[in-house]
Amino acid sequence: MSYIYQIRPVIGEEEKQAVVEYLDSGGWLTEYERTREFERAIAQLIRKRYASVVTSGTVSIFLALKALGVGPGDEVIVPDFTMIATANAVLLAGARPVMVDIEPQTLCLDISLAESVVTSRTKAVIVVSINGRCPDMDRAGAFAQAHGLALIEDAAQAMGSTWRGKPIGSFGYAGCFSFSPHKIVTTGQGGAIVTDDEDLIERVRRLKDFGREAPGIDRHVALGFNFKFTDLQAVVGLAQLKKLEERLGRKKELFRLYQEYLRDVPEVSFLSTDLSETVPWFVDILVPDPEALKAHLDAHGIGSRRFYPPVHTQEPYRIDASYPVAEEVSRRGLWLPSSISLDDETIRQVCGVIRAFYKVKTPV
Ligand SMILES: Cc1ncc(COP(=O)(O)O)c(C=O)c1O
Repeated sequence: MSYIYQIRPVIGEEEKQAVVEYLDSGGWLTEYERTREFERAIAQLIRKRYASVVTSGTVSIFLALKALGVGPGDEVIVPDFTMIATANAVLLAGARPVMVDIEPQTLCLDISLAESVVTSRTKAVIVVSINGRCPDMDRAGAFAQAHGLALIEDAAQAMGSTWRGKPIGSFGYAGCFSFSPHKIVTTGQGGAIVTDDEDLIERVRRLKDFGREAPGIDRHVALGFNFKFTDLQAVVGLAQLKKLEERLGRKKELFRLYQEYLRDVPEVSFLSTDLSETVPWFVDILVPDPEALKAHLDAHGIGSRRFYPPVHTQEPYRIDASYPVAEEVSRRGLWLPSSISLDDETIRQVCGVIRAFYKVKTPV
């Protein structure tokens, strides 16, 4: 059995063809018409009026915050369990991330706990849809509104997932996505901000293009950056979007297969997951001893990945505080091989190795 990665990008003939055709067309590589097309496709998918694509998911959150005017002296609520980029984007904007514990059933921000950290300095709340799941978004919206906060969705892991039939990433004032190599849709690197707010998207567009008044004009109305996308990436993204249903469907099937093959292993638990709404980006399990299971999988040529440590335990954010749910899931969580290129037989083999570790007989 060759090494099984926990995740790897899946690029097909369509993407290769699209890149070759684009290069043959004499395009300038940087963002132009194909990028606009990709933005329209993303906006349509999330059912928002506007999308602007940028260099990464981190930058998408950073720019959403900057465009909202969040900066030094401000506070932004973030979940204590997330990929560190969520908190980094807040710090980059000059504001202070204030961590809040998560719900055990979704691994997402616990809105009821967020109430207690709101101060006059709080300007925004970032809900992160960990692995395509999300908290009660009506409640998140009501919480933000009650306190006059901007609701930002970090939907980096949630393209294609919904809550009550509505796309994740469409609930907030701004929704942020990532196209890094292990995401549902990848363009190598990249990110997107989606919104219905024309002013917000205009500010984002200026900020990502040196603060230009309008593209191609060297009059700068604000301090800006260069966070532009490239048409070369856009054609890859567009090719992937054409196969989105297939890509989402395979993620769900993988999750279903793992559940089936590991159902009778008492040490392994899955989070309750409604596959009609959630696209599990990574297959996540909770076990008593993830490090030992990981070592066992490694020894059998199978990659896996421990859950993120809680943000408050990471060096740039270290504080002496307790976030019991984030700590508990970080201690127990493991991500299993989740690439959509894996076939059913490989998943069965991976599960066989897990079953052997827990000494549960595999029926022949
Ligand atoms: C929840 C979350 N937010 C933000 C990011 C950052 O995205 P990027 O790697 O594109 O900067 C990631 C990336 O893995 C993520 O998982």
